[in-house]
Amino acid sequence: MKALVLAGGSGTRMRPITHTSAKQLVPVANKPVLFYGLEAIAQAGITEVGIVVGDTGDDIREAVGDGSRLGVRATYIPQHAPLGLAHAVLIAREFLGDDDFVMYLGDNFIVGGISALVDAFRAERPDARILLTQVPDPTSFGVAELDAEGRVIGLEEKPSRPKSDLALVGVYLFGPAIHEAVRSIGPSRRGELEITQAIQWLIDNRSDVRATTIAGYWKDTGDVVDMLEVNRSVLEAVDRSVLGRVDEASEIIGRVRIDAGAQVRGSRIVGPVVIGSGAMISGSYIGPFTSVSENCRISDSEIEYSIVLRDSSITGVSRVQASLIGRNVEVTPAPRTPSAHRLVLGDHSKVQISP
Ligand code: G1P
Repeated sequence: MKALVLAGGSGTRMRPITHTSAKQLVPVANKPVLFYGLEAIAQAGITEVGIVVGDTGDDIREAVGDGSRLGVRATYIPQHAPLGLAHAVLIAREFLGDDDFVMYLGDNFIVGGISALVDAFRAERPDARILLTQVPDPTSFGVAELDAEGRVIGLEEKPSRPKSDLALVGVYLFGPAIHEAVRSIGPSRRGELEITQAIQWLIDNRSDVRATTIAGYWKDTGDVVDMLEVNRSVLEAVDRSVLGRVDEASEIIGRVRIDAGAQVRGSRIVGPVVIGSGAMISGSYIGPFTSVSENCRISDSEIEYSIVLRDSSITGVSRVQASLIGRNVEVTPAPRTPSAHRLVLGDHSKVQISP
């Protein structure tokens, strides 16, 4: 069995973070969301992975390399324009051959991996198995309709009036029948070859399409609240490991991971927290559910329940909460007089200021 991982697309929903980085590289507990997917694929015993890349292909290649660090062998498949998920299957035909494969959307996060699903697929070998999950607003997903026996009877891509609250999760298992399906469909209203429509084609042509409903799912819906929440749930499982340098005046409480090369001076860190290598924390409080990425500097500040991406600094600010701070950001206090907020914010930034 092979894997086809989709890592193209522009990530408009995660702006401004994705102005300068691929959406699949948005970190959860200091690790790109894409890496969790690749690790889940490796854990399921699949090593041959085709990665479909678009405009942000260079970033993806730089992060994943040959895949060996993540336990897979990566082959890059360039997609010249974002023409849809079924188009990605079309251009990956040579890589996939007639093998069964799992298609994994690189911006999806599945708690608990995919090993059980892959094992079941290997044993049963239907033409397709889709994953579904209940979501509060199905209109931004593919939506499935099931009959009383739980069989899939219809699929619709981002319907304005969804027939159920069961969204298609971005992990699909396919046998070779999908190739005829992706060749048989035309572009949708948004001009893409939709995988949803290709699976509907399989259903219409009496193929064996099965569904599994899962819990524990997240995708980059662009909602920072969601992103902080998935970061929290991953941090819940972090083990204590202090490899960086911590001075006598600091207090490290609970499950805190301080990577080698990080430094903590005169600070109090209450886990679960991760601090990336090269980070420097001094005279600060870092509270629960915070991820501080590589090479950040936090001095004389307080922060909790937040994500700070690499190379950013926070100096003399209390207290930062429920915040997502991008790369190379500087947060500093305003001078006492005149009392005013001075802001330099990129396009699509969102700021909340206490009056
Ligand atoms: C795609 C699929 C959609 C699925 C979603 C899951 O949507 O078209 O059916 O529910 O992935 O991530 P897109 O990310 O292209 O909006």
